[in-house]
Amino acid sequence: MGDWFLQEEKKMPFELAHGVSLWEMAGQDSKLSKIFNDAMASSSCLFTDFIIKNGGNIFKGTESLVDVGGGVGAISKVIAENFPHVKCTVLDLPRVEGDFSNDRNVKFVPGDMFNYIPPADVVLLKWILHCWSDENCIKILRRCKQAISSREAGGKVLILEAVVGSTSSMISKEPRLLFDLMMMNATEGVERDEQQWSKLFTESGFSSYNIIHTIGFMSIIEVYP
Ligand SMILES: C[S@@+](CC[C@H](N)C(=O)[O-])C[C@H]1O[C@@H](n2cnc3c(N)ncnc32)[C@H](O)[C@@H]1O
Repeated sequence: MGDWFLQEEKKMPFELAHGVSLWEMAGQDSKLSKIFNDAMASSSCLFTDFIIKNGGNIFKGTESLVDVGGGVGAISKVIAENFPHVKCTVLDLPRVEGDFSNDRNVKFVPGDMFNYIPPADVVLLKWILHCWSDENCIKILRRCKQAISSREAGGKVLILEAVVGSTSSMISKEPRLLFDLMMMNATEGVERDEQQWSKLFTESGFSSYNIIHTIGFMSIIEVYP
């Protein structure tokens, strides 16, 4: 951290220590990639009950969804199983080796979200934007806006992330701040408060948003074109 603070290059601490970004390292080391994917998939349990109980409203009229940076597809599999009218596509880097052979309604597309996001009614971003700088978040969100349907046709971006300061309990506050430190170390990202989220949405060309508090320190943000 000390070296990072004093450097002039502005590399993130992880990259300064290891010479590559976390995603590059996971692309070179299949063991790390598997540990990371499994950890991400298990974190999705936090949302499973909420999605099953509230998905009827959230996915009303949704026929297709792209889970951008969706890893091994833990969330998409829950959505497809409980809401069979939603056809899910998981987009992630080619390093991800998920097993989608038993899932009729979930398919995997390898790719780079900065280049292309397949079209769908809804784009889901779980724990994606907190890995990236404002500048890169705006690039990703603009790609999402190109990919989704019009608002009248049910188009929206669903963001599953923390909203710093949105509830005052220490149970939510401490993990959000610890996550902020972790993101600063491992990635170029941050945890954002509502004002920072709102600024990103406006600068990416979206017209409005709605925040739904789920459990603990996480929220769902519905962002409309
Ligand atoms: C913090 S993980 C979140 C995984 C998953 N959404 C979840 O919450 O379980 C970030 C994901 O973004 C993926 N990712 C990173 N850069 C990407 C890119 N340029 N295009 C597509 N996916 C990318 C990573 O491979 C990783 O699976």
